[in-house]
Amino acid sequence: MLSRRPVAPDYPVPLHNVPADYGGRYLYLRDNHSGEYWSPSWQPTQHDLDHYECRHGLSYTRISSARLGVRAETLYFVPLGETLEVWRLRVRNERGTPIDLSVFSSVEFCLWDAQDDATNFQRNYSTGEVEVADGVIYHKTEYRERRNHFAYFACSEPLAGFDTQREEFLGAYRGWDRPLVVERGESANSVAHGWAPHGSHHVRFRLAPGDTKEVIFLLGYWENPDDQKFDPPGSAVLNKALVRPVIDRWLRQETVAAGFSRLRESWSSLLSVLTVETPDDDTNRMVNTWNPYQCMVTFNMSRSVSLFESGISRGIGFRDSCQDLLGFVQLAPSRARGRILELAATQLASGGAYHQYQPLTKSGNDAIGSGFNDDPLWLVLGVAAYLKETGDEAILDEAMPYADAQDSPAPLYEHLERSLRYTSDRLGPHLLPLIGRADWNDCLNLNCFSVAPGESFQTTANVTGGVAESVFIGGLFVLAATEFAQIAGRRGRAADAAGYRAEAEKMAHVVTEHGWDGEWFRRAYDHAGRVVGSAENAEGQIFIEPQGMCVMSGIGIGNGMAVRALASVRERLATSHGILLLQPAYTRYHLELGEISSYPPGYKENGSIFCHTNPWVMIAEAMVGHGDAAFGYYKRINPSAREEISDVHRCEPYVYAQMIAGPDAPAHGEAKNSWLTGTAAWNLVAITQWILGIRAEMDGLRVDPVLPAAWAGFTATRRFRGATYQISVRNPDRISGRVANLEVDGHLVNGTLVPLAPSGTTVHVEAVVR
Ligand code: BGC
Ligand code: NOJ
Repeated sequence: MLSRRPVAPDYPVPLHNVPADYGGRYLYLRDNHSGEYWSPSWQPTQHDLDHYECRHGLSYTRISSARLGVRAETLYFVPLGETLEVWRLRVRNERGTPIDLSVFSSVEFCLWDAQDDATNFQRNYSTGEVEVADGVIYHKTEYRERRNHFAYFACSEPLAGFDTQREEFLGAYRGWDRPLVVERGESANSVAHGWAPHGSHHVRFRLAPGDTKEVIFLLGYWENPDDQKFDPPGSAVLNKALVRPVIDRWLRQETVAAGFSRLRESWSSLLSVLTVETPDDDTNRMVNTWNPYQCMVTFNMSRSVSLFESGISRGIGFRDSCQDLLGFVQLAPSRARGRILELAATQLASGGAYHQYQPLTKSGNDAIGSGFNDDPLWLVLGVAAYLKETGDEAILDEAMPYADAQDSPAPLYEHLERSLRYTSDRLGPHLLPLIGRADWNDCLNLNCFSVAPGESFQTTANVTGGVAESVFIGGLFVLAATEFAQIAGRRGRAADAAGYRAEAEKMAHVVTEHGWDGEWFRRAYDHAGRVVGSAENAEGQIFIEPQGMCVMSGIGIGNGMAVRALASVRERLATSHGILLLQPAYTRYHLELGEISSYPPGYKENGSIFCHTNPWVMIAEAMVGHGDAAFGYYKRINPSAREEISDVHRCEPYVYAQMIAGPDAPAHGEAKNSWLTGTAAWNLVAITQWILGIRAEMDGLRVDPVLPAAWAGFTATRRFRGATYQISVRNPDRISGRVANLEVDGHLVNGTLVPLAPSGTTVHVEAVVR
């Protein structure tokens, strides 16, 4: 039996992080005696409420409020496996007298193409169509012709009325704060023809003192088979026969309650893969609940849809998804497998990759293009992480096509070889990797030279230079080639393994020769061969990325460079809010550097705390044995630890943000762009695998913590390849050192690797730091 932890509680969302209209979903309550009305779930009205709270849970949101003795709570969630969203409204009468209440719901339907909907009014004001049947509002714009999908909005109660035309609902010159229909307490029963299709139900009921009423709304999406679109066939009437049973099922209270429990259960099982009990509450809160949760959200959405990504421009990022895998793979390995193969299929025959692909079509996004020369190497790291977690070496034999060579599928193993060859075929004058359009830092555009206002740095034509090189890709290559050598070796390809190991060594040597500035690793060489990220530059003297990446790949660990580079990070980049991406920030536009210098100093890639990169330094510090430094950096950007300074941080205290403004910006410490960021995966890796030291490896589970000296130890439970490992680490002398003694089921083992245990067994691991 797996141990199931109690499900984590939900967490209040700071008001400025609640979308003002909660994504266009509105509910209104009306006291039909006095005519007073309010919205129990719409944030701007909270000033009129006696109580308002929005809480975020694992895959659900709960908004509660109270006014005039009426308490309301709405739970929003998408049941597992369904294409519908449930809103479960509970209204309770806390007055001493009965109340005659109305509930009005309201949503605006999108005419399927959000971009077009927001721009093409000349057409769209004439296309909208709906049907209302048996209390369900069906939004079916363009269904008559080429679409086979529609949206529906259903309600569990008999309706006193409905509306589907936005203007009828709101009334002329009115907004969502005073809809005419709500004010007058009566729907117009409007049926939209063109203009702005919208859905609203009106439900009316009496509540005795102390009584609670539950009303369920469903907002759903459905596809009918092409040959069953209409009923009767040949008519223009939507066939509801296939969707109706789904609607009926989910309008029942028991279905909703059971669906919600299933969702909670599924999270508690996912989160039980790794649980920790450390002396630090912020670590526990993030590692046990919110950090893996964010990894799941980020894996699902990549960088395409959130409060900050509108869902109509960016798709699935190639490098982003490969990195998301690092924090996600243990949660749902089979989904990780699917994503790896999907990514491989968007790779190009050259080994390069489309920078992004569209989540629905799975095809590369031409508008963004390719030529980000780091992209393919991340696939090697993603696959290595998958293999370590699962041992599923069969994935390497999966034949996947290249995006531009559909008829010649090649085993994943070969895709990875081409990834590495893409780098080694593209070396510059110092034999460092050419940067192409950019590397991990999308905004360091060394071949771009853009002068046209508004032109996209990401897509504009680049000069084809064989000069601009990236030290960062050099480090990444060493890491990826080392990982791949191990993979090749396990496949019995000894020659491959030796070859990649030699290439990694050669590149490490080049980085040491041409990528070292004296006190830290340089960043790049520009199109003219001038150094970037060096003491000889006036601005942008030191960048964080190569310090983290080169040390993670092992460069300089044996010769003091790694420790020296990390000291430079501490001296020049560390702030109390986290580690800056670069210093000094660029104060003017540098034509030869591109987008990076387009941001005002202290923001984004121009010298903010770009959080994604911080865990690289945490890992590097752990690798050189500096537990206090590693954990110190971890705490600075841990959102839970920043809750105390929420007035500065201004972001959900349980979600990593892409960036925190640097000291060059007026709002130093203010976080921005929470949710979809590689920060989630990398921080989970840094804390769990390198600071707590619990790492999946090909042949077992590594237990190699590098703790802060103040900790007396910690305990953890890790499910890994079917077995459960109960780990207890003690630090009796309170040192920031490494494990000296490791006992597995009472037997001392050599080193820190716990061998693989048979599936179904429980293994007890005792480690002592000395
Ligand atoms: C952002 C980067 C992003 C890039 C690619 C830039 O404007 O600052 O963070 O990676 O666009 O979409
Ligand atoms: C955000 C992008 O999604 C990611 O791929 C990139 O590495 C960072 N920005 C840094 O530019």
